[in-house]
Amino acid sequence: MKTGHVTLVVGALLVAAMNAPVWAATETETAELILKLMQAGRSVVAAHQEMINDSRKADKGFTPEIFGDRVIQRYRQDTNIDLRNPNVSPGTAKLLWALLDSGKEVVGEFQPVINKPGVGFKGFIPAKWGRMAADKFTQKTGLRLKLTSLNYRWPGNRPDDFEMDVLKLFQDPNYPKGKDYFKTIMVDGRPQLRIMTPEYVKPACLQCHGEPKGEKDITGMKKEGYKDGDVAGAISLTVPVR
Ligand code: HEC
Repeated sequence: MKTGHVTLVVGALLVAAMNAPVWAATETETAELILKLMQAGRSVVAAHQEMINDSRKADKGFTPEIFGDRVIQRYRQDTNIDLRNPNVSPGTAKLLWALLDSGKEVVGEFQPVINKPGVGFKGFIPAKWGRMAADKFTQKTGLRLKLTSLNYRWPGNRPDDFEMDVLKLFQDPNYPKGKDYFKTIMVDGRPQLRIMTPEYVKPACLQCHGEPKGEKDITGMKKEGYKDGDVAGAISLTVPVR
């Protein structure tokens, strides 16, 4: 497994990084921090799910600003990094802010849905938030970020060959639970840093992804029949390197 030292190909960010007195984090650490922020955002949406699904309430107060504050709080707990004043390199900070902004934009776009009275389940769930935030992040930065799974529901979440192999590896009982997987691979003669973090099924996931397999969940999609602790999928990031 070769990780080595690589350079992020993100023009403006590179300049920012070179001006920085300390380039503290290696690129793999930066990649890990991006994935942790995606996880934090998903957790914050999950923690507000019941409130979002409340049919009796119109204005939920779940604004992009509130969402952003909660993510910042959560991220500080998880990583000790304060996104308002992060002790990371400027290049890393820009990438983290790009993801935070992307997530806030998605929450902003969904305000009419979130605040709609008289409707319970609105389809605004962590997976959808994550997919849309990841797409925006990719547009802003050129770094491919996505959710993926061997049993993917959303067509855009289909694993590529590399992701397929790593998802199978995550299912291997000998693979250390929760460990991120890194590799630099060559694509069309150019190196890419690939990093994936596994996502496991928790009790809260079972109502949609659990048993009985094939039965429809609240979103109208077929349950996978997963059990608590199964690998549900992964968050995957691709960084072009040179
Ligand atoms: C309310 C139902 C619901 C719950 C609860 C839920 N999911 Fe999902 N999940 C979905 C739907 C629907 C999609 C496809 C969403 C999309 O991209 O639009 C999805 C997609 C995913 C994906 C991306 C791969 C794919 O299938 O496209 C992963 C990974 C995932 N869920 C993991 C989890 C985990 C882990 C939990 C618990 C922590 C969880 N989900 C809880 C409904 C749910």
